[in-house]
Parts: sequence; C-alpha cells; structure tokens
Amino acid sequence: PLSAMEQEYEIRQELGSLHGIPLYKSFIEGWPQVKAFQARPDDLLISTYPKSGTTWLSEIVDMIYHDGNVEKCRRDAIYNRVPFLEMKVSKELSGVDQLENTPSPRLVKTHLPVQLLPTSFWEQDCKIIYMARNPKDVVISYYYFYQMAKMHPDPGTKAEFLENFMAGKVAYGSWYDHVRGWWEKKQEKKILYLFYEDMKKDPRQEVQKILQFLGKELAEGTVEKILHHTSFQEMKKNPAANYETMLPTLMDHNISPFLRKGISGDWKNHFTVAQNERFDQHYQEHMAGSDLHFQMEV
Ligand code: A3P
Repeated sequence: PLSAMEQEYEIRQELGSLHGIPLYKSFIEGWPQVKAFQARPDDLLISTYPKSGTTWLSEIVDMIYHDGNVEKCRRDAIYNRVPFLEMKVSKELSGVDQLENTPSPRLVKTHLPVQLLPTSFWEQDCKIIYMARNPKDVVISYYYFYQMAKMHPDPGTKAEFLENFMAGKVAYGSWYDHVRGWWEKKQEKKILYLFYEDMKKDPRQEVQKILQFLGKELAEGTVEKILHHTSFQEMKKNPAANYETMLPTLMDHNISPFLRKGISGDWKNHFTVAQNERFDQHYQEHMAGSDLHFQMEV
C-alpha cells in the first residue's frame, strides 16, 4: 500500500498523452499554464531530451552567469536555480510558478519537443541551447532513471524498455523526433546545438562555444574553475547539483544515483549483440535523410 505522501505525488502512474507525446499526468494537468507561459527576451532556454546532460549543461551555464563563483552556485539546488518549465508536481510546486518568481535573467529548463514549446519563446526571440546525446547511452541512462525516479511507470526489463524507447513509448516520446525537430529548427532560430559526446571529449572547447553564443568573455582562470566545478566527480559530490536533496519519495538514489556514470559508451555494457544490431537498423531508418550525426562512443 502507498503512504499518504506517495499517493499525493502519484507514484508510478502510467503516462498520459499530451498532443501525442507520452508525459506524466500531473504535467499534463499543468499544461494550460505552460502553454500560456510568458517568456522574457533575456531568458535562456536549456532544452534537451531527458538524460542527455541537462544537469551538466545547467550547472555550466549557471557558473557562467555567476562568473565562476562556486559559492553563488551553491545557493540552491540545480532544479531551483534552473526551473523546469513544464514540471508540475502538486498545486504548490510548478515550474511556471517558480519561473514567475525568478528575477531576470532567467535560466529555464525544458524537455519539450520543439513543436510544443510555448510560443512566447519564439516571439521573444530567446536564446536556446539544445544538448543532444547518442540514443544508446540515453536509453540506458533513462532505464536507470525510470527505476530511481518514481514519477515513472515501472520500466520493466531492460529489453522491454529498449523496445518502448525505440517505439517512442517513454516520457517525452520519440528521441528521434526530438533531436531531429530541434536540429531542423536551428536553421531559422537562435539555437546553439551541442552534443554530450563533444562535451566529454573537449569540455573547454564546448564552454568556449557557449561563451561565444552568450556574447560573454571570461578570464582563462575562470573557465578553468568552471571546468573543474562541473566535472562529473565534483558534481556527483555537490548536493546542489546531484539531486540528493530531492524528496526521497520522488527519487531513490540507493536504487541508482542521479549522477550515475557520466561516460559515453556505457551502452556497450548493456546491449546484447542482437539488440545492438536491431538498434542500428532502427537508427538508420529513423535518421535517414538527416545530416544530424551521433558519436556512439568517444
Ligand atoms: P548516466 O546515467 O549515463 O550516468 P540529465 O541531466 O539530462 O538527466 O542527464 C543525466 C545524465 O548526465 C546521467 O548520465 C549523468 O550521470 C550525466 N551527467 C550529469 N552530470 C555530468 C557531468 N558533469 N559529466 C558527465 N556526465 C554527467
């Protein structure tokens, strides 16, 4: 039986559907406020498919916004420093309310597919940073996240979850549609499109890209400090970045820590040869005709 708290947060519910995208039912209930959200011109949107490095990118950008001041970036948990636009847990807890009470310049996190982004972001011509990660690592990371984060339905076995992921039957829907949709939008809008794998390979270069995109200059030593503070090891032990302050009824880090492995190519420890062949085939079909390419390891 569920405790009162668990019932309140509707633990392990089946997903609902928002314009054809599978999503948490509580988020769908909050959708009218999200749709009507008023972006401000100086908002910076951090957009990702889940498990693609959202928290990493968020910490980097918050550090940039605070000129590498580590103490200022410990002021609050990452999920409060960079509010989650479409998040709605209860009457008291919603991303929109949080954002309305956040002074500018705001950092905003979303996982929405491009076609569902509230129109005010386009009207206000907000800057957007999108980060994508190869789908094999995403699906493994997502599988562990489904287990530890209890707003998700039971993920089933790894094999079952892999099938659901390929079919787009997981929260936020098809990874393919997500990464391709945002990639295509880049033709016409101010979007910096980054890759988790590039960030692993050469974080300094990627931070420089972000600085250039934001029109910001930092001293070499400050960049150095940002790279150190946002390394996997540092973030893993930082309570303001590792989600350990989240309600234990929502996330159980004993099942799997939020900052789990932080590498590229962990899928090799999980996919069978047959699963990998099937996945490659499916990937080829679904990425056909696109000039968007992923590195499956670094
Ligand atoms: P793994 O489960 O593969 O370890 P998101 O923030 O979008 O939910 O993504 C979470 C993934 O990003 C997790 O992947 C997590 O470990 C990884 N991650 C978080 N911070 C990181 C960092 N500083 N360096 C590398 N990976 C990081």
